Amino acid sequence: MLLDQTVLPTTVRERRCVEVADLVQAIQDLAVRGAPLLGVAGAMGVWLAAQSAPDHPQGLRQYVTEQAARVAAARPTAVNLRWGVEQALGELDRPWASVAEARGRLQAVAERIHRDEVARCLIIGTNGAEALGPVRHLMTQCNAGGLATGGYGTALGVIRVVASRTPGLHVWVPETRPLLQGSRLTAFELAEAGIAHTVVTDNACAALFREGVVDAVVVGADRIAANGDTANKIGTYALAVIAHHHGVPLIVAAPSSTVDPDTSTGAGIIIEQRPASEVTPYGSPARNDAFDVTPAALVRAIVTEHGVLRAPYDLRSVRP
Ligand code: MRU
Repeated sequence: MLLDQTVLPTTVRERRCVEVADLVQAIQDLAVRGAPLLGVAGAMGVWLAAQSAPDHPQGLRQYVTEQAARVAAARPTAVNLRWGVEQALGELDRPWASVAEARGRLQAVAERIHRDEVARCLIIGTNGAEALGPVRHLMTQCNAGGLATGGYGTALGVIRVVASRTPGLHVWVPETRPLLQGSRLTAFELAEAGIAHTVVTDNACAALFREGVVDAVVVGADRIAANGDTANKIGTYALAVIAHHHGVPLIVAAPSSTVDPDTSTGAGIIIEQRPASEVTPYGSPARNDAFDVTPAALVRAIVTEHGVLRAPYDLRSVRP
C-alpha cells in the first residue's frame, strides 16, 4: 500500500499494488518517488513478486528474478531503486529451506531497508546542520523530505535540524516544474513541521540570490557518481551555477545508498526522459528531462550518514 504522492497535498489517498505491474506503474507515475523511497519500494517489489511466484524453489527463484528486473528498470536515474532490488535479490542467493522461508526473508530485508533509510536520514540531518554552520535563509529543490525517504528526509532532514536550532529560519521552496514536488510536497511537509517557508517559481530563484536572501542551498540526490557529480531533480544544476556565481554554498545530502561507486562520473548517469504531455498541453514537441547532473566542482559538501565529505571527492568506497 502506497501513499499516492500524485494527488498530495489536496487529497490523501492510498494506492494498492497487488502485482509487480501495479508497482512498476506506481513508480512510473511518481505515486511513489524520491531516491531512498524508491530503494524501499524496489525491495518491497521483490517481496511482492515472491508472493505471486510458483510454490517451488526453482520456479520462485526464476519468477522473482524476472520480475525484479522489471522493478529495477521502472525508472533509470535513482540508483537506489536498483540497489534496493539487488539487496533483496541477494537474500535469495543465501541458502533457504522452503519457499515460505524465502518469502519471509524478502519481507524482512524490505522492512530492514525501510528502517535503515529512516535511521540514515536522522544522522544526515545532524551532519548536514554541522556542515552548513549558521544560516537564516535556505533554499532547496524538489522534495527530499519524509515523503521521498520513508520517514524523515535528507535535505529536509537537514532543514529540520537547522530549524530546531535556528529561531526564524526560513526556507525558499522552488515550485519544481513540471510536477511541482516543491510547491506540493516540500511546502506541505514544511507546513506540517511548522517551518517558515515561501514557494517561488523556478524562474524567480536567480533574482533571490542577487537580492542576497539565500545563505545556502541544500538538496537531495538521485545518484552520486564516484567523483561527486550529482544527479538530482531538473533545475538543481541551474541553482548550483547561480549559487556558485553568488558565492553561496550548495550542499548535497544523501544516504550512502544513493552513491553509485560503479559510475565514475556524471557522464555515466542515465537521465530519465518523461512524457512531453507533462510540459506541453498542445501536443508540441517537448523535451522533458526529469533530472540534471551538477558537477562536483559546484558542490561545497556531500553529506551522508557517514559524515561530511569535501572536494576532491572520492566515493569509490562509500557503501551503506
Ligand atoms: O522525480 P522525483 O520526484 O522522484 O525526484 C526526486 C528528487 O529529485 C529528489 O531530490 C531525490 O530523489 C532525493 S529524495 C531524498
